[in-house]
Amino acid sequence: MNAAQKPSTDPTPDSGGVVSPVHVAIIMDGNGRWAKARGLRRTDGHREGVEAARRAVEAAQDLGLKYLTLYSFSTENWRRPAGEIRDLMGLLKQFIVDDLPRLKKEGVRVRIIGDKVNLAPDVSALVQRAESETRENQKFVLQIAFNYGGRDEILRAAKAAISAIQDGDLQLEDVNESLFSSYLDTGDTPDPDLVIRTSGEKRISNFLIWQAAYAEYVFTDVLWPDFNAEIFAKAIEEFNNRERRYGGVAGKTG
Ligand code: IPE
Ligand code: IPE
Ligand code: MG
Repeated sequence: MNAAQKPSTDPTPDSGGVVSPVHVAIIMDGNGRWAKARGLRRTDGHREGVEAARRAVEAAQDLGLKYLTLYSFSTENWRRPAGEIRDLMGLLKQFIVDDLPRLKKEGVRVRIIGDKVNLAPDVSALVQRAESETRENQKFVLQIAFNYGGRDEILRAAKAAISAIQDGDLQLEDVNESLFSSYLDTGDTPDPDLVIRTSGEKRISNFLIWQAAYAEYVFTDVLWPDFNAEIFAKAIEEFNNRERRYGGVAGKTG
């Protein structure tokens, strides 16, 4: 097993050997189609999508997960119409303003992954506030992938590592998968065990392309605004019935 794969699943002593995911990452897709099917505006779909995200955060904790990563805005989503982008930014800001006090009280640490350098000042200030006010929380980690692209993240990490080498703070010989992972936005977060994508699309759309190298995938036709605890539990059940081999042989982990 390669250390850089950082598997987060370990059979717990009382689980009878059944392994449950520790980190689930979700590609929340289908808000637009959900709205269209009801004759509503895409933004109405995104608003319902925020409600589904709230349900997912609660359900993740009830299901015993330790980390949840939600893909909320990709580096490619800037290609959308300006009005939709404005609404999506507004919803993220509103989510932080409305939910931060509760998340803080519940012991949830909020981390934002993605390129934070080019965000609008008001968005950037809220993102910083959410991270700094919950930094000490340890019960659960909510990672929001915002202005996030896997290729962009890997490029930024590569540039940061090269710059550390040029400054003499890092030796080229010491660069391995595990060290390189620490330069990614996810830092020491364990790799996702399970990636769920809603809405029937079967692609990863530039999401956690390094970290999810050995993740299991569950695709569901449910549109994101209809996502709930029951669907979440079913995806986890499907994960629990999979056999992860990491390139090895069935049934042998050593
Ligand atoms: C997911 O829903 C939300 C974001 C990508 C921001 P979409 O907006 O992609 O919904 P569809 O895929 O058009 O239905
Ligand atoms: C992926 O969904 C991005 C998010 C869920 C934030 P998209 O709807 O943008 O992905 P594509 O365009 O269908 O691949
Ligand atoms: Mg989509």
